[in-house]
Amino acid sequence: MLNIAVFGSGAGSNFRAILTAIQQGDIPDARISLVLSNNSGAGILGIARANALPAIHLSQKQFPDERSFAGTILSTLSEYGVNFIALAGYMKQVPGAVVAAYRNRIVNIHPALLPRFGGPGMYGTHVHEAVIASGEKVSGATVHYVDEEYDHGPIVLQRTVPVLPGDTPESLAARVLAAEHEVYPSAIRRIAEEERTSGHHTA
Ligand code: GRF
Repeated sequence: MLNIAVFGSGAGSNFRAILTAIQQGDIPDARISLVLSNNSGAGILGIARANALPAIHLSQKQFPDERSFAGTILSTLSEYGVNFIALAGYMKQVPGAVVAAYRNRIVNIHPALLPRFGGPGMYGTHVHEAVIASGEKVSGATVHYVDEEYDHGPIVLQRTVPVLPGDTPESLAARVLAAEHEVYPSAIRRIAEEERTSGHHTA
């Protein structure tokens, strides 16, 4: 069973897509154990609360250093029995100690077809501006494992969308976001099924 902590900073539409898939029984081997945000007003916390899920605000700003911040994240994850982390619009870098403790157990959604159009600074509208400027005719969304570098870990699943003539960063972003809401639940389902069939039982 994947006991998932979702980390987000914004509206939480990707989290909502995953939660809906679980609630509809599409992902029987996964549950949301915790939602964490660095932004106390983030929509993602509101969605968690509306679904009676633990919704926790934790930010580096509340801590004197990264070590104590990471320690608090890790003890919180442990308290809720979390064995998997899904970043969904999380705009901060995950502390190295957390990446190390959850090696190959953290995934992220990126609004482009990695390995292109990824890396530091490549988030939000900057991604779509770069794709349009490149003349690419195809973009999409990527679910990938998280390691110490931005948008760099092994790819789990991708879904493509066309870049249409006259697309603006906003129109392309909307098309990609719809693909994100399909590919993220599918990726989580695949990982959960692999875990069940492989007998790989985690803590
Ligand atoms: C999405 O565009 C995603 O690609 C990026 O941040 C945004 C998250 O939006 N990582 P939401 O908070 O899931 O609605």
